[in-house]
Amino acid sequence: MPQKSTLNIGLLGFGTVGQGVWKHLQANSANLEQRLGGSLYLAKASTKDLSKIRSVSIPKEQLTDDPWEIVNDPQIDIVCELIGGTDLARKLTLKALEQGKTVVSANKALICEHGQEIFDIARTHQAHFFFEASVAGGIPIIKTLREGLVANRFSLIHGILNGTSNYILTRMEQEGLPLETVLADARKLGYVEADESLDLDGWDAAHKAVILTYLAHGFWADPKALTVEGIRSITPQDMSFAKKLGYKIKLLAIIENIKNSGQIAVGVHPTLIPEATILASVDDVFNGISITGDVAGTTFLVGRGAGQDATASAVISDIADAASLLLNTHQEKNAQKKAPLPIETSCKIANPEAVTSAYYFRMCAKDKPGVLAEIAEALAAHEVSVASMLQESLDKNKVALVITTHRAPESQLTQAIKHLEQLDCILEKPFFIRILDSDL
Ligand code: HSE
Repeated sequence: MPQKSTLNIGLLGFGTVGQGVWKHLQANSANLEQRLGGSLYLAKASTKDLSKIRSVSIPKEQLTDDPWEIVNDPQIDIVCELIGGTDLARKLTLKALEQGKTVVSANKALICEHGQEIFDIARTHQAHFFFEASVAGGIPIIKTLREGLVANRFSLIHGILNGTSNYILTRMEQEGLPLETVLADARKLGYVEADESLDLDGWDAAHKAVILTYLAHGFWADPKALTVEGIRSITPQDMSFAKKLGYKIKLLAIIENIKNSGQIAVGVHPTLIPEATILASVDDVFNGISITGDVAGTTFLVGRGAGQDATASAVISDIADAASLLLNTHQEKNAQKKAPLPIETSCKIANPEAVTSAYYFRMCAKDKPGVLAEIAEALAAHEVSVASMLQESLDKNKVALVITTHRAPESQLTQAIKHLEQLDCILEKPFFIRILDSDL
């Protein structure tokens, strides 16, 4: 069969990302064509509202309000799914793959929930599915794991995968502001997802962690089986205690291969990280990911995790990859290399109780003799060892107490907290988060 020299691209969704893709593909078409040895034609885009005024102009006849028109068009080779959501997006994606089209997706929730089905359908129909833009915006994390670091087994991947929560934590830390005040600004700037829980309760980062877990360890983790904690309980006081202890607080997605257990702990946690680490310097809406492999050691990627241009950059990188497959005369050979093959794995998700970590506790306690001894005794009873302690008077009868611990199994921590909650001298439910004892 003769190879095509022009590939037709259809965009499902012409919002912020869709317009970015259109704009940058047009601007870079000559360069891309030279590199790929064929041309890319932006054939059509779909949108819910044809009358909307947009900053990127597109000929009227290339815009449709029917995404199926694109998916069912036999002339379209590459479909970019940029509409989000998991219902219509799933149907459109599967239909395109069933017809052997290549699909490029930025939809982390869709891949997290239906990745297995999507990859199975792609394999059955010898179609390609690319998803670089689904995790960490413009940072090429998918390619890095799948290609650049393919020789590695990964002991630890951890990072900031949600820009909005990082923006909020950064301003809380730098300006001493409460979360609600910064959240109001983040809303005004358009940073917060329509479903705010995705950013504030860790679910957006969890979706991305599920995708990275699949790439690194070859299985789809059930998001419901993960420990997912958000940032809502972090106070300016925590920020200032963390600073005094030499840490910053960041919302981290953590994918840890628990040594010799075949278990992978996947979770999202607000975490104290040493101030001198690279990750601690990743501020505002930026994302940063540390990947530790057994061959390459630790690799660190940092960049823009969201926004029109960064996301468009990742989508276009997938379009270029797809194009080099489809335009290549050795298509079949390469296709096998690129198809999302299942990875043989015996790994499974770890029980959160199997995880060990150092911890930060914040407590409100009575200010009277013997309180510290009682708290230390409760921790010792569960073999949790104290690393440091800070205390600040709240009024003449009450103190805010912060204790950091050495590494301990989470199961012991849970028991210690139950114990602390029962003490008369503890006035409110203790708040605790993890401390990352890594130097990156
Ligand atoms: N809400 C996401 C974030 C957008 O803040 O990172 C990019 O996935």
